[in-house]
Amino acid sequence: MTESKVVMTDPRRQDYFYEEAIKTLRTNVQFTGAEIKTIVLTSCYPNEGKSDIAFHLAFEMGKMGKNTIIVDADIRKSSFIKRFQVKGRIEGLSQYLSGQCQMEDIVYQTNFTGVDIVFSGPVAPNPSELLGQESFSAMVQALREKYDYVLIDTPPIANLIDAAVVAGQCDGAILVIESDAVSRKIAIKAREQLEVSGCRMLGAVLNKVDVKKTNKYYSKYGYYGKTKQK
Ligand SMILES: Nc1ncnc2c1ncn2[C@@H]1O[C@H](COP(=O)(O)OP(=O)(O)O)[C@@H](O)[C@H]1O
Ligand SMILES: [Mg+2]
Repeated sequence: MTESKVVMTDPRRQDYFYEEAIKTLRTNVQFTGAEIKTIVLTSCYPNEGKSDIAFHLAFEMGKMGKNTIIVDADIRKSSFIKRFQVKGRIEGLSQYLSGQCQMEDIVYQTNFTGVDIVFSGPVAPNPSELLGQESFSAMVQALREKYDYVLIDTPPIANLIDAAVVAGQCDGAILVIESDAVSRKIAIKAREQLEVSGCRMLGAVLNKVDVKKTNKYYSKYGYYGKTKQK
């Protein structure tokens, strides 16, 4: 695949505890085994922090010498172009899936070591149908061959089918859960939906934890492992 380079501003959270939690997440993902390479990230609701985690995880993996690509499969509400202040004309996933460009046109190199990206492209009216196409699974397989890790960011799973469709093409899933924002029932339902798609549940990240209210055992912004349910 040929790649053009995009310059992205650095949106890293300048927070020691968050960084440490992401490093733990990276280590845990690496220990899940060599066959876990394509990973879907989702959450029950919007704004729980999955795009942030997708980026920080990719950043940490890239830094450790792991060739990583982020795929923004949130065709409904892309956040990467705006958040990273990317300039210039970008071709994205929705254009590739609707036959407007080739796979190699949508892979961009970034200014972060070891991190490439596929942006979501313009909002399309039928994201779940686009993601269900053969061209999406072909892309995931091609990226799987080329990269050590393929991290796929998706819309929330509570009301939309997109993340489950993407999960069907992935080796593993990470569920991001905002502390004090998701009921146990909804979190279990999300986990079940991911599992039904045939993808292995790797664990959950508890995000935006209020450190004052919680036990000191948990790091400030999250931990990785079994879903902590309320
Ligand atoms: N651990 C965190 N602590 C505080 N704010 C956070 C944290 N993670 C994400 N955010 C903020 O929450 C908002 C939503 O994050 P984002 O990653 O876009 O969520 P999602 O992709 O799940 O919709 C953003 O403004 C982001 O900066
Ligand atoms: Mg997002």
